[in-house]
Amino acid sequence: MINMNVNTTVTTGTLSRHLHGQFAEHLGRCIYEGMWVGTDSPIPNTDGIRNDVLEALRELNIPVLRWPGGCFADEYHWKDGVGKPEERARMVNSHWGGVEENNHFGTHEFLRLCELLETEPYISGNVGSGTVHEMQQWVEYMTQDGTSPMADWRRQNGRDEPWNVTYFGVGNENWGCGGNMRPEYYADLYRHYATYVRNYGDNQVYKIACGANTDDYKWTEVLMREAGHLMNGLSLHYYTIPSGNFFTGKGAATGFTTEEWFSTLKNTLFMEELIVKHSQIMDKYDPEKKVGMIIDEWGIWTEVEPGTNPGFLFQQNTVRDAIVAGVNLNLFYKYADRIKMANIAQMVNVLQAMVLTEGDQMLLTPTYHVFNMYQVHQDSERLELHWESPEYVLGAQSIPKISAAASKDAQGQVHITVCNLSHNESETFSCAIEGGSYTANGIVLAGDALDAHNTFAQPDRVAPTELNLTLSAEGVLSFELPPASVARITLS
Ligand code: AHR
Repeated sequence: MINMNVNTTVTTGTLSRHLHGQFAEHLGRCIYEGMWVGTDSPIPNTDGIRNDVLEALRELNIPVLRWPGGCFADEYHWKDGVGKPEERARMVNSHWGGVEENNHFGTHEFLRLCELLETEPYISGNVGSGTVHEMQQWVEYMTQDGTSPMADWRRQNGRDEPWNVTYFGVGNENWGCGGNMRPEYYADLYRHYATYVRNYGDNQVYKIACGANTDDYKWTEVLMREAGHLMNGLSLHYYTIPSGNFFTGKGAATGFTTEEWFSTLKNTLFMEELIVKHSQIMDKYDPEKKVGMIIDEWGIWTEVEPGTNPGFLFQQNTVRDAIVAGVNLNLFYKYADRIKMANIAQMVNVLQAMVLTEGDQMLLTPTYHVFNMYQVHQDSERLELHWESPEYVLGAQSIPKISAAASKDAQGQVHITVCNLSHNESETFSCAIEGGSYTANGIVLAGDALDAHNTFAQPDRVAPTELNLTLSAEGVLSFELPPASVARITLS
């Protein structure tokens, strides 16, 4: 039995809705087929974007969407992606499968997608192979009102009003696919490029510098020291690799062992150490926490599904993915004083996706359900939830068994999200609720196997169901979570 308590009158800061951000790259079937089918497709669509996917994603209230990459952004030349589609330049997507990119999905189409999703765009600019001038002109093209060469060109291409583009990334993974740079060199380039990322009219750009890969603390140190005063955000990329080794076999998305279940969750919990240690460096240069930590790529990365293009990063999504999502979101809330945005990789058909498609079919993944369950935390006020987690032991190793978070929304409702990481042990909870009297209800996501997942034949095998709970007159909430589960409890 775990004893918890929460005082619903004591809040400790806002959980930015941007912690629920998404990422969509020109990679595999994420953009093309997964979202963009074109206006002449038999698949029902709105301005070329498929309606089934739009409808599912709109439910999630996605606050911000990062595009066009990833590594693709480091090769993307935005001018190739505007104007008449049939006249757009073609290119080879050399990072992702070597396939042809016809540029039919470009700036206008992406910003239309954002309008349809009612989400804020986060554009990732090209430092790896693009010029300062090209980046300056892209921002001008999107955001300049009045008359200017780029604003006039935008109008010729069918868009009169400028768009609001707040979030702009000045480079992506410039320590790797974005140019294999040293931090000292990139810090200078960041200063140079960012100077020309202008605010036009009322549009205020939030500039995000390329941050570290995993535990490259030197990168954070150099960037904060040399350019911290010129950035609004600094990114961090960390992927959960089940085996812990990206290069020697990541582990399969389904059919994994109990040991792989455990190592996946252990590896995902490493996110906390990364947040703490990178934050300590940021605190040294920015004690007032003006620079946001932007975890704009995270999630589980497994081997691709057998028989699919290895460059397309298509993987199934199981109950294990749901726990990875739940644990990371709970962590982001814990450190929300520094973390201002997070973008799971990636939204459709790639890595830890929300939805999977095949032709005209679409299904919701367990990760989708977690994002749906957790969306109540968006812009809510954080509550201090106290508990002591028992250890989840496997062999000689142990990790905390329980991950949890709580918040209070603008209507005064309290939301508690809890994950049980154990593969085989349920857990009972007794949570003292102080500060008000409420009624309670809850839902829980669990599976009939550790790798339970949804397929087109069985699209609802993993879906939330009602959680049995009681709330006594004295304010004690009692419930039991099955092994390998994610729950949300709401107090009204
Ligand atoms: O999300 C897939 C890839 O992972 C991105 O393109 C890159 O930025 C990262 O290495």
